[in-house]
Amino acid sequence: MAKRILTGLKPTGEQFHIGNYFGAIKPLIQLSQDNPDADIFLFLATMHAYTQIHNGEELKKNTLTVLKLYAACGADLERFMIYNPADIPGHAQLNWVLTCLTIMGTMERMHSYKDALAKGKAGEISVGTFCYPILMAADILLYDADIVPVGKDQKQHVEYARDIAQKFNKAYGEIFKLPDVYIRNEVAVVPGIDGRKMSKSYNNYIWLLDDEKILLKKVKQIPTDTKTVEEPKDPDTCNVYNMCKLFLNEEENQSLRSRYQAGGLSYKEAKDYLYEKLLAFLKPIQEKYASIKDQEIVDLLKKNSEKVNAISEKKIAEVYKKVGFSL
Ligand code: ADP
Ligand code: TRP
Repeated sequence: MAKRILTGLKPTGEQFHIGNYFGAIKPLIQLSQDNPDADIFLFLATMHAYTQIHNGEELKKNTLTVLKLYAACGADLERFMIYNPADIPGHAQLNWVLTCLTIMGTMERMHSYKDALAKGKAGEISVGTFCYPILMAADILLYDADIVPVGKDQKQHVEYARDIAQKFNKAYGEIFKLPDVYIRNEVAVVPGIDGRKMSKSYNNYIWLLDDEKILLKKVKQIPTDTKTVEEPKDPDTCNVYNMCKLFLNEEENQSLRSRYQAGGLSYKEAKDYLYEKLLAFLKPIQEKYASIKDQEIVDLLKKNSEKVNAISEKKIAEVYKKVGFSL
């Protein structure tokens, strides 16, 4: 049977920024190309996003935008099996079984809970947030995933999925496949326009859908030092260079570095170059994005959910028999 690569994407933001592109989207597309024979399951973790977003319209809008952006960035919608777990009852069904097999101490040690604790009081954290990894384990185990690519912060959650699968199998027989976590190669952190890590939370991002005017404004805001045009400059400490190099081939990169080091390059010129490179990168993504209709995405999710639901129903039937829910 073909290897199954499965991952989820939490639509908590209204868009993706170029940090998300280089850190998450591009590596997944690359992984799919490196494994041409594997099945790729990519789902919208709408039920996970619900731990954070309680505005229905906002969640719907994020979900559509994020999916269209994935397609605009080159994810092949024919190849990627994209679906929404909320359309498939098995996720909530398996979630309950695993919830009853999981002790609270395990959840207390989880990254998601600790993260929430760091931001607020224990008594105010939702039970959904507390149990977040259990739903994630259900997402994974339902489909016999072989490989689960995630960012470093999600590694512990996939390990828990493996542990709970083992616990279930030990009690009831070999029902679940044990998933392997695949941590994306450390991608260099993409800097934001203030030089810190680009992040939704720092308001220092360039969205994939930023138009020319906004883009120009943001590029102009990038802080630089006070060196004169003639002075030699260190490219590695320059925010403009650090962003620009994402879009350069080896030759262009060497040539820009030499110009920095030789002196004679103004920051204005470097920023104009960055703007030009950003535009050339974003234009095709934005054009593709504009060509995808919301209805196409809705139809695709519906079509795929039928296929995926058939796999899920089969697994749930086995589980329900084993635990004694089905006679
Ligand atoms: P944000 O910090 O904007 O909230 P998320 O946590 O939603 O970003 O990021 C989703 C994924 O995108 C992360 O798992 C990470 O792999 C990638 N990512 C986010 N920001 C960056 C960045 N500045 N550089 C590289 N990768 C990033
Ligand atoms: N928790 C993941 C994140 O925040 C999203 C996710 C939900 C997921 N279910 C999953 C990832 C199952 C991999 C497998 O990024």
